[in-house]
Amino acid sequence: MKVSLILFLLILSHAQATPASPLSRVRALQADLAQARRHLTCRSALIALHSARRCRYAGLSPVEYLRLRRVCKTRSESRTSLTACKAIRCTACLSERRLLQRALEACRRIGWDSSGVRRKCPSVAYAKKELRLARARGCPPAPTRGVQRIESELETAVRRAANRLGLRPPAYPLRVVESKRDVPDTVVVLLHGAGLTNTGLVPSAQSVVDEARGAVFRFVLPQAPTEFLTSANLSLPIWYDATGDLADGPWERGQILRAARNVHDLIRLQTEVFGIGKERVFVAGFSQGGSVAATVYLRYRVAAAILVSSFLPMRDSYPAEMTDASAAAPVVMFQGTADEMLPVEIARKTRDTLRRLGRDVRYVEYPGEKHALAGVVEDVTMRFFELASEVLGTDISCV
Ligand SMILES: *[C@@H]1O[C@H](CO)[C@@H](O)[C@H](O)[C@H]1NC(C)=O
Repeated sequence: MKVSLILFLLILSHAQATPASPLSRVRALQADLAQARRHLTCRSALIALHSARRCRYAGLSPVEYLRLRRVCKTRSESRTSLTACKAIRCTACLSERRLLQRALEACRRIGWDSSGVRRKCPSVAYAKKELRLARARGCPPAPTRGVQRIESELETAVRRAANRLGLRPPAYPLRVVESKRDVPDTVVVLLHGAGLTNTGLVPSAQSVVDEARGAVFRFVLPQAPTEFLTSANLSLPIWYDATGDLADGPWERGQILRAARNVHDLIRLQTEVFGIGKERVFVAGFSQGGSVAATVYLRYRVAAAILVSSFLPMRDSYPAEMTDASAAAPVVMFQGTADEMLPVEIARKTRDTLRRLGRDVRYVEYPGEKHALAGVVEDVTMRFFELASEVLGTDISCV
């Protein structure tokens, strides 16, 4: 008894003497999170297969099946939907097909509109394929904690680690889009345009995350604060104020530099807390966001900069105020000639300035395209894959 107590105290004192470092805690939680998410992917593939089989058994089209499920969730107060819910439960145990049909009739009577149903109940073949893919990626056993719990533990661990390293907390609210399978090893900090939100960038980020091979991406999407933009005489989400024309200045110099510093802080969080090398951190931005990205690129170390329908503000401040940190990193610019917000001449001027500063500028001009570059989104994405493959030294394009 006494011996084991001493042993216990010894172990305890040893544990206290070598607490897990905040950084290794972050790494461990990231691995847990990737595992939990992989498990979840497998589970949803399984559920998809079950519901596909259920649809087929009940003789329902996928849309009809989903319609019933929606009735269950959204109209449980009405008697009609109660019947539907009972029917669903019956379908769940693969019985009572007739009751289901009756419930479906009831749905039609209450005029359920199927046009709003976007998700599809998958075909059995499709669901089987999904499951096969999920299994090929490895289906780990169920973790002891759920994804959400690990996410919140990770958030705390990241805050602690950042604090320990003396990093300031993020200056902007963030949205993160990252791989659901593996621990990210490549980061893109992507900045939205003036008057817009980071939410609009989620689909583009998601498609890169999903399609990339050989690199595991995390997109960090900060949201600019809503402030007064003098040139527009309006309050909008902006990174900095411009008193004259947004693209040609004059600009609020202090605000631009502060935004660039804030973005650099986000980059440091990625490199120092998550241990991702600076040679794997891209900074990208659309319109005003791109002008902050350009400023970051000229002052701090990044792997490459991507400017979409954008420009370099404070052109006269360089080369005096730039550093060599990213001197070897390329910058790619995408610009439409029919841009109604940012005249193409300003983008060309930016290209020339950056070249004069000795930078490796890849300038892509799209004839007839407007500010949003809506007609060439796929080309822009493909060129991003090319750039990233070159910079990372691995072919990451989807096959
Ligand atoms: C700015 O907007 C306000 C309110 O809409 C308006 O009263 C004011 O005249 C505008 N100022 C300028 C310089 O256009």
